Amino acid sequence: MRAICRRLNAPDAQDFQSLRFESFTLEPRAFRYAPEDEAHVALSAVAARLTRDFVIGAFNAERSQLIGVGGLAWSDGVKTRHKALLYGMYVKAAHRGSGAADEIMKGLIDEARAKVEIVTLTVVSTNLRALRFYERWGFRAYGVEERSAKNGDGDYLDETLMALRMKS
Ligand SMILES: CC(C)(COP(=O)(O)OP(=O)(O)OC[C@H]1O[C@@H](n2cnc3c(N)ncnc32)[C@H](O)[C@@H]1OP(=O)(O)O)[C@@H](O)C(=O)NCCC(=O)NCCS
Repeated sequence: MRAICRRLNAPDAQDFQSLRFESFTLEPRAFRYAPEDEAHVALSAVAARLTRDFVIGAFNAERSQLIGVGGLAWSDGVKTRHKALLYGMYVKAAHRGSGAADEIMKGLIDEARAKVEIVTLTVVSTNLRALRFYERWGFRAYGVEERSAKNGDGDYLDETLMALRMKS
């Protein structure tokens, strides 16, 4: 069943925050953030982020549940505003492999193409499924940040740095 995607706006702040919290909780080896990082973020700050950034949400066929998200953060520096950072890609486990992630990515890429020249992202180097997904969308690895994140028990995560050029 095809997911229904749209831009998330300020009124979606609660659902967006809940899904982010879920992603950091259920996938501790996929993100550089911990659930504690999100737990105390005020809803007003989340709403401001949804207004400032460009975040796509995927909903189930009944439109009753947010099942996936992905966002773009713009850079406003004079010398860096040709780039955007793609962040927070997450699809609930039951909907992976369904095309929902592709729908989200398509929405993000369409928006990025209209606004910037390069999209960058970071992905934990052992996250082969996500790496493959980004490669399929044309992202290329250009480096690795070793020990980019540290789980509480001394479990370090390396992150692969990837970029997609909209224009050569
Ligand atoms: C990353 C994510 C959004 C991708 O969505 P998805 O629905 O799983 O993606 P798809 O199924 O469309 O694509 C995954 C690709 O990886 C491949 N794959 C699956 N498991 C794999 C594995 N263990 N190793 C290598 N490739 C794998 C699939 O075959 C598919 O490739 P293909 O299209 O060439 O066949 C989703 O898996 C997710 O939410 N994961 C948990 C959170 C996460 O890791 N987020 C990324 C943070 S950077």
